[in-house]
Amino acid sequence: MTFGIDDLPVRDELRGKSPYGAPQLDVPVRLNTNENPYPLPEALVERIAERVREAARDLNRYPDRDAVELRTKLAEYLTETSGHPLDASNVWAANGSNEVIQQLLQTFGGPGRTAIGFEPSYSMHGLIARGTGTGWISGPRHEDFTVDVPAAERAIAEHRPDVVFITTPNNPTGTAVPAEAVVALHDAAQAAKPSMVVVDEAYIEFSHGASLLPLLAGRPNLVVSRTMSKAFGAAGLRLGYLAAHPAVVDAVQLVRLPYHLSAVTQATALAALEHTDTLLKYVEQLKTERDRLVAELRAIGYEVTESDANFVQFGRFADAQEVWRRILDRGVLVRDNGVPGWLRVTAGTPEENDAFLDAVREVKKEQST
Ligand SMILES: Cc1ncc(COP(=O)(O)O)c(C=O)c1O
Repeated sequence: MTFGIDDLPVRDELRGKSPYGAPQLDVPVRLNTNENPYPLPEALVERIAERVREAARDLNRYPDRDAVELRTKLAEYLTETSGHPLDASNVWAANGSNEVIQQLLQTFGGPGRTAIGFEPSYSMHGLIARGTGTGWISGPRHEDFTVDVPAAERAIAEHRPDVVFITTPNNPTGTAVPAEAVVALHDAAQAAKPSMVVVDEAYIEFSHGASLLPLLAGRPNLVVSRTMSKAFGAAGLRLGYLAAHPAVVDAVQLVRLPYHLSAVTQATALAALEHTDTLLKYVEQLKTERDRLVAELRAIGYEVTESDANFVQFGRFADAQEVWRRILDRGVLVRDNGVPGWLRVTAGTPEENDAFLDAVREVKKEQST
């Protein structure tokens, strides 16, 4: 027997668990991790190289610990796109929104505290809760995957969680949560505890509706988390950020590691933010492709959940894993998120989406013969 994890004195709650991660398989069409399929434009690649070269000259020094220039530019982007005025004091950045979420749970969760999410939803919320010693509560959803607000309010009143996660648009279902529902859940959470309410807007740029950033006004316990991994097409950069009351930004600094955001990351993100308009042009194309996927999947005869994101949940399958494999056999990788009966496909380029649609048409035919 080889020496393994279980022979080490790891924390009890980590025993027997596997690390999170979608398969990274080498297939022609990868539509499984909600990435943006378009590489960065060449002009931006050049600008990144320039800014990173400049940053490299100072790599003997620690980076700006507070990432002030980057937070200022992110605040400008949020203000311009939402109309809700924000400045650097409202914004905090980290290595992906996963790290933002981790810092929030380290600050507001932790041993003896709990967090709730309405599932199925982004499974890292629960996993990061576990990693930070925060108890996890799985809240309800309707059959159609929209949030069941009265049931969610009851769950909040019953469990009195310290952190409430609301993901809109939701991953993996694609469903959006209306502003009134967020306000109702926020108010329920304040009445119960009060607690922090984290609105995860990782996919908001793809939504038919607007960002919920304006809800921050007068709600110091509300946090909106965002990422450059999806709409900005910069998943490899690892840059997530949050917008909230300045007190929240001060609070997360109690747990952040000093100099957590490297000078190279800050330089790269700043270069990307200089090209926001070009990057967001792809968002419109992806929304069109997302809507085409919804329409075509329905025409083929699949059930499809309404989507406000850059992916589509489709089903229903007696054995989703088997259908996943058959699609993979045709060179297309989609995602089985473990939602019984459903699979998820990310909107890719028109050619990738055509390949996916051809594959599922064939699978459908096979299954009906
Ligand atoms: C809802 C949601 N939030 C956050 C993330 C994390 O994104 P990142 O850490 O790349 O910013 C993802 C990634 O898939 C997601 O689906």
